[in-house]
Amino acid sequence: MSPIMMTSAGVILMLTPVLCLLSGFSWAATLGGQEREYNLQDVILDPKRFGGVTNFSTFLLDPSSGLLFLGARDAILSVDTNQLDKPARNIMWDVPMEKRRSCVAKGKTEVDCHNYVRLMEFLEEGRVYVCGTYAFDPQCAFMDVTSFTLEKNEDGGVKMETGKGKCPFEPSQHYTAVMAGGILYTAATSNFLGTLFDISRASGPEQERIRTERSINWLSDPEFVSSAFIEQSPGNNPNGDDDKIYFFFTEVAKEYDLYTKVKVPRVARVCKSDVGGMKTLQRRWTTFLKAQLVCEDKPSSQRYNILTDVFTIRHTQGDPGSTHFYGLFTSQWENEEMSAVCVFSLSDISKVMDGPFKELKKTCDNWINPEPVPAPRPGQCLNHVLKSEGFESSLKLPDKVLTFVRDHPLMENSVSAAPLLVRKGVTYSKLAVTLMDSGIAVLHLGTGRGELHQVEVVGQNATILQEIPLFPSQEPVNNILLHKGEALVGSPLSLARVRAEGCSLYPTCELCARARRLGCEWSRKENACRTTGTRPGPDDTIEQALRTCDIKEGRCSPITRELQVSMGLRLLLPCVQLSPRSCSWEHPPHRYTKQHHSDLEVTVTEESLGEYVCICQVCY
Ligand SMILES: *[C@@H]1O[C@H](CO)[C@@H](O)[C@H](O)[C@H]1NC(C)=O
Ligand SMILES: *[C@@H]1O[C@H](CO)[C@@H](O)[C@H](O)[C@H]1NC(C)=O
Repeated sequence: MSPIMMTSAGVILMLTPVLCLLSGFSWAATLGGQEREYNLQDVILDPKRFGGVTNFSTFLLDPSSGLLFLGARDAILSVDTNQLDKPARNIMWDVPMEKRRSCVAKGKTEVDCHNYVRLMEFLEEGRVYVCGTYAFDPQCAFMDVTSFTLEKNEDGGVKMETGKGKCPFEPSQHYTAVMAGGILYTAATSNFLGTLFDISRASGPEQERIRTERSINWLSDPEFVSSAFIEQSPGNNPNGDDDKIYFFFTEVAKEYDLYTKVKVPRVARVCKSDVGGMKTLQRRWTTFLKAQLVCEDKPSSQRYNILTDVFTIRHTQGDPGSTHFYGLFTSQWENEEMSAVCVFSLSDISKVMDGPFKELKKTCDNWINPEPVPAPRPGQCLNHVLKSEGFESSLKLPDKVLTFVRDHPLMENSVSAAPLLVRKGVTYSKLAVTLMDSGIAVLHLGTGRGELHQVEVVGQNATILQEIPLFPSQEPVNNILLHKGEALVGSPLSLARVRAEGCSLYPTCELCARARRLGCEWSRKENACRTTGTRPGPDDTIEQALRTCDIKEGRCSPITRELQVSMGLRLLLPCVQLSPRSCSWEHPPHRYTKQHHSDLEVTVTEESLGEYVCICQVCY
């Protein structure tokens, strides 16, 4: 940020520029594939390193070996994260020529008629289930981790089974999958045209492969984002409650009678032992419930209604009940780029799911008297009480309960949160979170332009720690995986490994000062950022820590410059732009200004006196 004060002094104009530049960028901009001297561990692998393999979409890390599998176009790569300089290994899994031709003949583009590997999940020890779009005919195969090969048929071809309902047909379609007790649960499109959507149990015994009802009340043009399997705590489950699978998505709201298509972020839940109903909801979920997520900044009444990513983390280790979901949002209504992060707790979601149901069929009758909720409560997971009442399986549930849940998948109340972070001019594409002992969360945010941002969050207060450009700006970050204090960050073409924890992460005094609350302190003697081992006190602020740094102009500090100019003069106010984004100016309302890139041209008049602030997004 770079504020400039203009005050009137007769015909003299005072200009008080306060230059506050992106200290994060002044060093980070030098990153580019070579190792930096202050942090030898950061590595960036550019497309040259992958022998022509592109379109990475899926990450799967084997934590014991440190091997990272990358699902790509017509290939699966294996990268040793401990030795990134070792060449990646590669399994080709492409589509035969005739099949590609017939895919193109059906009206799809050549580039889409490949096999984009979109799903990789561990099966039992040593095997990975991999699924690809396979020229709009999704297929799944089995990968042996030790030999790093796909299992073969007797005829030597790759052993495949249909991937319909497990993997999307289209390479860029939104989709999510999660393993729960060795069974795959997915949210994907289920036809060639991409017009049918299902949340389903996609593997396991045939009769238990159930899915959502094809009704717009259940799913309405959803864009699936994320899923999570939350088990009950084995030692603390007195009611014998069932394990649950959560799905996050954005869909078109059907509950508002509006002409415009309003998008809403949702969380949906199903229970693990649900096997569908006997007559009603046969082979369908009997426990599918969904609720609206609200990420709203109350003071500005700005709502962020499009969910783009979710990171699931427990706030207390070993306690599944402490699970929190960090959601990345953007807004449907804003033209400028904008992102927000909101966090929702599992217990808040559970409360809403236990609350009133939304009446979707508004007739004159039930408008006034909502349909009574039958017993046992519709959509409820099986537990000891239900079982003791004779409902030991969802097949035993009464018809009236099932019709009710079929017609009332949406909850009346929303799960609401205020944003932890709001940023304009940035589109975040991916999110991961580390929690510190001191109740501080560090958000690792990937941008649509190949950067990684780190933001520290205490309560509702966010501080930007640093912004690291990793990849060329046309490469969005599409994966972030935290492992052993490092972040593995991916784009469709590149891969990076950067330090994600510890004070040595902050190479300058100012960056170190911003990480003050994380217990970091700049050591002049060592010229390095060190862990103090003690928690900072209340007066121990970032401002205080910054004062100890030898701050020069051009750094993030309020340096005042006075400029005396006469009326009628035309000035160019400089704002040094170090980030890939443009800087914007705030200035007095009656002004004669024109922006040239990030500099501002001002014609001095009586009205143009006042404060001029150039904001480059990066100051805390
Ligand atoms: C795959 O990568 C190529 C080259 O970067 C790009 O043109 C194409 O759009 C990508 N396809 C998908 C489905 O992402
Ligand atoms: C958040 O910031 C406000 C205003 O600067 C401050 O009063 C409050 O104590 C901060 N809260 C935390 C948890 O740091």
